[in-house]
Amino acid sequence: MANVFTRMGDWVNERAPNMMPAYRKHMTEYYAPKNFNLWYYFGSLALLVLVNQIVTGIFLTMNYKTSAAEAFASVEYIMRDVEWGWLIRYMHSTGASLFFVVVFLHMFRGLMYGSYKKPRELVWLLGMLIFLVLMAEAFMGYVLPWGNMSFWGAKVIISLFGTIPVIGGTLVEWIMGDYLPADATLNRFFALHVIALPLVLLLLVVLHIAALHEVGSNNPDGVEIKKGPKGNRWDALKPADGIPFHPYYTVKDLVGVGFFLLIAAFIIFFAPTMGGWFLEHDNFIPANNLATPAHIKPVWYFTPFYAILRMIPSFLGQAFWGVLAMFGAIALLFALPWIDVGKVKSIRYRGTGYKVGLGLFVLSFILLGAVGAGVTAEVIPEWFGDVDVTFWENLFGRFWTLVYFGYFVFLWLYTRLGWETTKPVPERVTTHD
Ligand code: HEM
Repeated sequence: MANVFTRMGDWVNERAPNMMPAYRKHMTEYYAPKNFNLWYYFGSLALLVLVNQIVTGIFLTMNYKTSAAEAFASVEYIMRDVEWGWLIRYMHSTGASLFFVVVFLHMFRGLMYGSYKKPRELVWLLGMLIFLVLMAEAFMGYVLPWGNMSFWGAKVIISLFGTIPVIGGTLVEWIMGDYLPADATLNRFFALHVIALPLVLLLLVVLHIAALHEVGSNNPDGVEIKKGPKGNRWDALKPADGIPFHPYYTVKDLVGVGFFLLIAAFIIFFAPTMGGWFLEHDNFIPANNLATPAHIKPVWYFTPFYAILRMIPSFLGQAFWGVLAMFGAIALLFALPWIDVGKVKSIRYRGTGYKVGLGLFVLSFILLGAVGAGVTAEVIPEWFGDVDVTFWENLFGRFWTLVYFGYFVFLWLYTRLGWETTKPVPERVTTHD
């Protein structure tokens, strides 16, 4: 058997002599730091979810009907009549939420270990582009089942463009192809969701990993792996402190995949809607432009940004400040490599101010998520009785919006004015063996 594989390898090599070296460059001879920890699982898990979304998406497309008249019923048909259709659909809907869980944790790792800093700014920027496209992809996917929240969610989000002065109204009509989300909107969103955006996403992911492999991975110590014999049994010229990605990290990543699939399977089989967090209750009702849901809100992964949008009041008769702040919240993440100019990368050796700042930033993101999802509106009257809910919700939401933006201002000042006292950074990566 081994002989057959060698001969097949030789056959391919003769015809495409550059393929094998590319495999070696990115797998067996890609030296990754030997001190990766749990946080380094999420890149490969994001890849796994991406593949899951594409494969289950292809099967969903086989029975989905792209028309406002038939879409909702076709999804019900997939759930009830198509063999294993319910499984494919729940794998896709759960996959969408898990994609964001994994990507948020992946980004948080980047923040903790300063992976956005020189020389990995390009990796970070490509990652942020992926994040933007992923949000567009998820938003358009959510419209496709043509449930009532699909309709109203689309209406609210597309109408945001209407706040842009002068061109807003025309732009909204242009995006929808109608005066309301309608058949034209559904058809174009389908085209973008199943082919255009996935292609862009795939291309960006390839570029993201290619850019990473140009400079090499960062690690929990935030120091570059050194060339030299120490710690490297194979080759004195290859990086010490580094181990070949394949087989070492392919095997390690499989452990992460195992745990992840267990969690995913549990959700898919026992809690596919996650109590309305992954699939909202209002989306099991067909779209109806005469029946507005009591609380229009996006799926959980958009709610932190949605809360920022809602918390910014109109000013000088213009409503677009909220939209501006929402996009600003994402734009600041793009600019992070130039905002944080601290020399030390890893949180392990950074100042207390940085640790507290990052903690508050994450807390603001979670609490704003709760505001956007309507949790505060529910909890305030329950906990505090007959109070002015809107007043207290606004106060709470605005405070955490300030913390979110304050983090970037703080980082800017903290790393420029020499306020940060860092710990000594080790010369080489550390391990706990
Ligand atoms: C479809 C989504 C994504 C996929 C499939 C993906 C994939 C990967 C993979 C496989 C790695 C190498 C393994 C690892 O370091 O975990 C990686 C590294 C990295 N990714 Fe992503 N990524 C995605 C989204 C993002 C996003 C949204 C960001 C942030 C803006 C980001 C930032 C980074 C950074 C900074 C690194 C280098 C980390 C380090 O070396 O410490 N990625 N990505």
